[in-house]
Amino acid sequence: MKALFLEMPESRLVIREVSVPEPGPGEVLIKIAAAPINPSDLARLKDAPAEYDLTTFIPGLEGSGTVIAAGKGILPRLWLGKRVACSSSISTSGSWAEYMVTSAGSCFPLNKKVTDEQGCMSLVNPLTALSFFEIIKQNRHKALINNAAGSALGRMVELLGKKNNIPVINLVRNQKSVESLKSQGSQYVLNSSDPSFITDLGILSKDLQATVLFDSVCSRQLQEMIEVLPHNSSVIIYGNLTGEKEICVNPRNLIANNINIAGFYLANKAKENGLFKNMLNIMKVSHLMSTDLTIKIQGRFSLDKAQEAIDTYLNNMSAGKVIFVPGSYF
Ligand SMILES: NC(=O)c1ccc[n+]([C@@H]2O[C@H](COP(=O)([O-])OP(=O)(O)OC[C@H]3O[C@@H](n4cnc5c(N)ncnc54)[C@H](OP(=O)(O)O)[C@@H]3O)[C@@H](O)[C@H]2O)c1
Repeated sequence: MKALFLEMPESRLVIREVSVPEPGPGEVLIKIAAAPINPSDLARLKDAPAEYDLTTFIPGLEGSGTVIAAGKGILPRLWLGKRVACSSSISTSGSWAEYMVTSAGSCFPLNKKVTDEQGCMSLVNPLTALSFFEIIKQNRHKALINNAAGSALGRMVELLGKKNNIPVINLVRNQKSVESLKSQGSQYVLNSSDPSFITDLGILSKDLQATVLFDSVCSRQLQEMIEVLPHNSSVIIYGNLTGEKEICVNPRNLIANNINIAGFYLANKAKENGLFKNMLNIMKVSHLMSTDLTIKIQGRFSLDKAQEAIDTYLNNMSAGKVIFVPGSYF
């Protein structure tokens, strides 16, 4: 099969022919139909030279396709022949390949109304957006603030905000994104590059009682942002798009305003949830994707155009997802 690998020393992606992997007990073999490029994939590519053997590491954390072989076990046999959304469970078999072996527990069948292309993005971001609203309900937040809101996840948070009657303050970093989000119906959008941004955030978050900030950026502005949040707010860090190694906070502000700072990682949340809750959430996502949720795609690439795909994505991440379609030759 054809699969992508990281080339040393330049760390560019290259395509190589390798044997199709065989599913072991509890695993399935999927013929990959589509696989997106997510920020977590790019972060993993950066860390890969230190963490994995690059001769066997195949990137790609999620995808969709058809289960064409099953290892021993009830679940693998149940999925055989089905169209599934799937995530990679081992570093030697990722979704940026024609075939992927993964644990059957990392797959779920796709609703007939969901295409392979949309289905390949139905695990990581939709489940994260749902988890945010669980946090909001548990803690009785009346409104929320989300950063890097022009992202695919940002659009899902906005959609769920509307469905749950929870106002969303969307933070983006340029005027183009402000206009784009407003034209899509977002009521509250602030541009972090505006000179009045911090003041505006303070006023709006207090007006709406937005007591939770979901931040995937970790910029140097974060400290100032935290300082204007309402009393008793929570800050939940779920991404690190700037790549900053440290964030600064003013301890006096945390103490005086009773501010909590926590991290969020979907894989940890899924472990906490247990099988039943995860299945329930997956069913909710499946329903959402077959009704209201369509994720914008800006480009489709065959595996041999990997570098072009990454460059297209990095050039304008808010323009929509870039996906690999391994069986195609564009
Ligand atoms: N913790 C978890 O379990 C979890 C799960 C899912 C997603 N996430 C995180 O959620 C975030 C969004 O993911 P996605 O797949 O929805 O992204 P996406 O659709 O690929 O879009 C990425 C977004 O990030 C913005 N961005 C990139 N670099 C930025 C920077 N330095 N400062 C401000 N904005 C920046 C882009 O805006 P521009 O157009 O302005 O570049 C774009 O809107 C990522 O950080 C991802 O890692 C975390």
